[in-house]
Amino acid sequence: MGKQIVIQPVSRIEGHARVTIQLDDNGNVADSRVNVVELRGFEKFCIGRPVEEIPRIVTSICGVCPWSHHLASAKANDAVFGVQPPPAGKKLRDLCNSIAYTEEHILHFFFLSGPDFVMGPDADYSVRNVIGIAQANPEIGKKVVRNRHLGAEMLEIISGKSIHPVTAVPGGFSKPLTPKERDKLLPMAEEVLEFAKFSMAFAKENIFPKYLDTVKTLGVINTGFMGTVTDDGTFNVYDGKLRLMKPDGAYVDFTYDKYTDFIGERIENWSYLKFPYAKAWGEGFSMDHINPKGIYRTNSLARINVADKIATPLAQKEFEEFRSKFGRPAQLTLLYHWARLIELLYNAEHAVELLHDPEILSRETRIPVTPRAARGVGCVEAPRGTLIHDYETDDKGLVTNMNLIVGTTHNNAPINMSVNQTAKLLIKDGKYDQGILNRVEMAIRAYDPCLSCATHDLNGRLAVRIDILDSLGHLINSFKN
Ligand code: MG
Ligand code: NI
Repeated sequence: MGKQIVIQPVSRIEGHARVTIQLDDNGNVADSRVNVVELRGFEKFCIGRPVEEIPRIVTSICGVCPWSHHLASAKANDAVFGVQPPPAGKKLRDLCNSIAYTEEHILHFFFLSGPDFVMGPDADYSVRNVIGIAQANPEIGKKVVRNRHLGAEMLEIISGKSIHPVTAVPGGFSKPLTPKERDKLLPMAEEVLEFAKFSMAFAKENIFPKYLDTVKTLGVINTGFMGTVTDDGTFNVYDGKLRLMKPDGAYVDFTYDKYTDFIGERIENWSYLKFPYAKAWGEGFSMDHINPKGIYRTNSLARINVADKIATPLAQKEFEEFRSKFGRPAQLTLLYHWARLIELLYNAEHAVELLHDPEILSRETRIPVTPRAARGVGCVEAPRGTLIHDYETDDKGLVTNMNLIVGTTHNNAPINMSVNQTAKLLIKDGKYDQGILNRVEMAIRAYDPCLSCATHDLNGRLAVRIDILDSLGHLINSFKN
């Protein structure tokens, strides 16, 4: 029986994963799996709680993406209560979302994925990391830390807390922004915008040209895409409608509350992470990377692919260049990095734009709500993909049902496919080295998965048993974390 290669842990991602690669008798890849252990405890223990508490509870799903969960939950609350926040309430939420984006995208580009490109995929593990980046280029390292700090500080000024926020409430935002706070925020947001411009220029000069061949081969799959656009097809990360695009570029738009008509959820017996798929296409589900069925992707590349245009000038310019270079939809997986930098620019520009908007200073940031029995779906584009919160309440406003699809969850099947493609491409005749296994991890990192969003257990143990079967289905090993 063939050998098994295990990459554990997959490093420089949010959360924990393990890759298992099964080789056949000739040392070629027979199969591969990205094992993610997930228990969606929140969907159960939120039942029976007042729905207005949920935006504060779900921030604990993830210390990296609390703002995304907070805002998707507040929007689900708006829908449950049947209200629309006043303009200032909506703009303050939008502002916090964009600031959180800048922090996340800077983190991912420079510190999580950067080492693969700056030190190179074959560099030794001991230097291919954040410390290596800081040593190789201390000036950039300092700027990255500074700009992430600026993001955290801005969120704290606006909402009192940078992580685990409490200020988005049903019907709006609980804390109006004062002119004094705005004056303090503006130069900070402008500094982040300067860094966003620098990041794009830096990548276009030093990174992208150097790795074009890698981009063309590594993690390559052909799928559909999903993301959010406004009514006229403009890119948006806070609000709009969902656009589901087939691999050939044909698309359909629908409102959040209709997502179950378009997206199905599957489970496989080797992962607790769900496998959403485009059930509207009627072709079923297959993760075969040559001939996939029902597979779509989310996160930066997906959002750029589904959008017709971007509302801020610098991001629009980059968007046009990207589209003319790579077409629509752009399929190459490593282009996620490039798309992410366009998004960094958009969000930095958008934050400055919102702070210049006098309406954001209105004291009218929320409207009162009254409990009722209803269903409400809230959705935002989290940095890592479309985030859906779906709640039902009884007439006292207590939660009776809850479903979550987290950004990374949509990319579960695509990540598995990209890993499979990369492993098959690079591991031949039983030969592989550290550089090759790192390239397998690079195929995962391109998606910037946040598995922390989905790997919780009440008692801190991972309650999954992993069985390893041989090619005939016989159990050869079994273990529990
Ligand atoms: Mg569910
Ligand atoms: Ni997360």
